Amino acid sequence: MTSAATTRRSVTVRAPGKVNLELKVGPRRLDGYHELATVFMAVGLHDEVTVVPADDWSVAVHGPYADRVPTDGSNLALRAARTLAEQVGVDEPVAVVIHKEIPVAGGMAGGSADAAGALLACDHLWGLGLPRDDLLETAAGLGSDIPFVLTGGIAVGSGRGERLAPVLARGSYHWVLAVSGNGLSTPSVYAECDRLRGTARVPHPEPSTEMMTALRSGDVDALGAALTNDLSDAAISLQPDLGEVLVAGLEYGAVGGIVSGSGPTVAFLTDSPEAALDLCVSLTASGVAGEVRRAKGPVHGAQVVPGPSARA
Ligand code: C5P
Repeated sequence: MTSAATTRRSVTVRAPGKVNLELKVGPRRLDGYHELATVFMAVGLHDEVTVVPADDWSVAVHGPYADRVPTDGSNLALRAARTLAEQVGVDEPVAVVIHKEIPVAGGMAGGSADAAGALLACDHLWGLGLPRDDLLETAAGLGSDIPFVLTGGIAVGSGRGERLAPVLARGSYHWVLAVSGNGLSTPSVYAECDRLRGTARVPHPEPSTEMMTALRSGDVDALGAALTNDLSDAAISLQPDLGEVLVAGLEYGAVGGIVSGSGPTVAFLTDSPEAALDLCVSLTASGVAGEVRRAKGPVHGAQVVPGPSARA
């Protein structure tokens, strides 16, 4: 195949990361997952996933975190593409090319974004035009956060996080994300949460009224006060310096702060773009946080990039 033909036939999708504004973890289920009540917000850090017709299945990863992503059959984007092909009976292998901006194993749905991107890109490349619900079902089978990455915006997740309901929300928010040098494995954070809870009875999780009211009003201070994450103690127990990062961000003027999902990224809410920039400078200058990024939210879910891709 010529490179011109390859470029023409490639499809690129931009897929966002997420922050959990609220993450209530219920009892561990018989299937090993935990019942959740969570509020997702898609934020403007994106991975780009390009699929190109090829003789055989493969995946390559570029960008700042590329060396931390597997490129064998365990890669979630490659698994997503192959799963979809099997489900719809397509025998057209693709080379998946990922440009990563979302931290790896950072609690921001980076792997889920790549899987969501691969699903949507293959749907377009193969001309499937699958109904939204079918795509969401395939996504849910591959990982709990993948349906949300396809959906974007702000949504309540229940079940293991894959069942989504819309939320009445207004406002646009400015986040500062303190990215840790070391990732945390999601299963080990849930296991640590179970260990810390011991035999305590865990109630069925429900979204809080405070969070719903804050989102409806668009009041950044109310939202900052309503941020909660039941996995926070577990993530801090496994990476104690996250506690110091949280304290520092709040001291430097964040409206609220939270461990993102299973961590170790710490997300700080600020009340303006200027405040976000100031917080980035303070966190970096203090040496408490290594890498610091800014992102706005909410943003769209995964979307096909129009026209031939520059990265293909
Ligand atoms: O669904 P996903 O592959 O993202 O989940 C990764 C791991 O996180 C699961 O294998 C499980 O250990 C943990 N998990 C959980 N309860 C959830 C979601 C994830 O225990 N609701």
